[in-house]
Amino acid sequence: MSTHKLDISLEQELDALKLEGRAKPTERIIEHYIPPKGNNGPRYKLEGNDNEFIRLNSNSYLSLSNHPDLIDAADKATHKFGVGPGAVRFIDGTFVYHDRLEKKVAAFTNKPAAKIFNSAYTANCGLALSISNKKTHWIGDKLNHNSIIRAMRISSIPKENKGIFKHNDMADLKRCLDEVSPGMERVVVIFDGIFSMRGDYAPINEITKICKSYDSKFKDGVITVVDDSHGIGAYGDTGRGTPEFCNAAPDIIIGTFGKAFGVNGGFICASNSIIESVRQKADTYIYTNPLSVADCAAAIKAIDICDSAQGRQLLFDLQKRTNQFRQGLEGLGKESITGPHPVVPLLVRDTTKTHDLVNYLFNNGVLVVGLTFPVVPKGDETIRFQINACHTFADINHVIELLDQFD
Ligand SMILES: Cc1ncc(COP(=O)(O)O)c(C=O)c1O
Repeated sequence: MSTHKLDISLEQELDALKLEGRAKPTERIIEHYIPPKGNNGPRYKLEGNDNEFIRLNSNSYLSLSNHPDLIDAADKATHKFGVGPGAVRFIDGTFVYHDRLEKKVAAFTNKPAAKIFNSAYTANCGLALSISNKKTHWIGDKLNHNSIIRAMRISSIPKENKGIFKHNDMADLKRCLDEVSPGMERVVVIFDGIFSMRGDYAPINEITKICKSYDSKFKDGVITVVDDSHGIGAYGDTGRGTPEFCNAAPDIIIGTFGKAFGVNGGFICASNSIIESVRQKADTYIYTNPLSVADCAAAIKAIDICDSAQGRQLLFDLQKRTNQFRQGLEGLGKESITGPHPVVPLLVRDTTKTHDLVNYLFNNGVLVVGLTFPVVPKGDETIRFQINACHTFADINHVIELLDQFD
């Protein structure tokens, strides 16, 4: 037996993806991390390239990935328990660090309970598997992250039990709620806290208010779910994310430890009954090995730091650098989407120009991501810059100067 025939078919499918412009480029390989020195923030070296790069495409907003206390915590946990759990959670794969992290993140988000996952992606899918039944209707924002779209596909059986509202359009959310079929007992309204391609945020206070006004129409009510993967740790006065920024309390909070917290893994925070349902029903939790104890110990430390004076300073630094970059872009007359989040889009609105600018920045030692059709609609071609707390004044100035020199 060989996979020869399948290989040929797959090659054709891959060629088609390339032709449609949907193929992902070859992955660059980071070979070295160079710690901050003098006026410079950290630099990275790539395999096969002698240059040093500033990374403006990292989600590690608080720059905790290389924090010595996180590395130390991961080290200690590994030396205590080894590198792998040996089994899934319900077959004695639960270690004290898993339990501690769940309690820690539940307290941080002000919810009674939490379950941790290998990623926010699997957390979203796990939630869908846990709280959906045939009388559940799901409603989501048009620009929701792929993991939410996937979760809604998993959960929406039959598939007409689903509504999509225009991005951040509250009148359209009401339309979706009005259109829920009679007989539905449970409505789930799910949305990103921060929309990762744009850096804008969901008006959670408005969403929860609207949902509350429909709650009594359904036996199990209208449940609000925010996936705040890009907000948690990086947004709000104390880093508690978009709910804090909006002064709102959605029913369920999903997030990742893999962005501002600088580690890896996802979580769901909610009531005790929801979390117990997740433990009993979420296949993406039950049938897969958990995070390593090293990841858990590092994530616990990350939350501790985020919730300390040091964390406030990191948030302050992040905000200062974000403002500097946003003002720099504005000074150059560049188009962006305003807001305080460290995801700063530069709207180029042309595919060739976007590729040219990404290449120009790469050739000048700056890593960024260009978003072109079909990732964004034609005409919305964008370069996404992500500011991290470790970026220095000089780093940001340098990038603004480079942008100024590009024509
Ligand atoms: C809203 C949202 N959810 C989930 C994810 C995925 O997070 P993770 O890497 O933990 O699966 C992302 C990241 O890109 C995201 O933006």
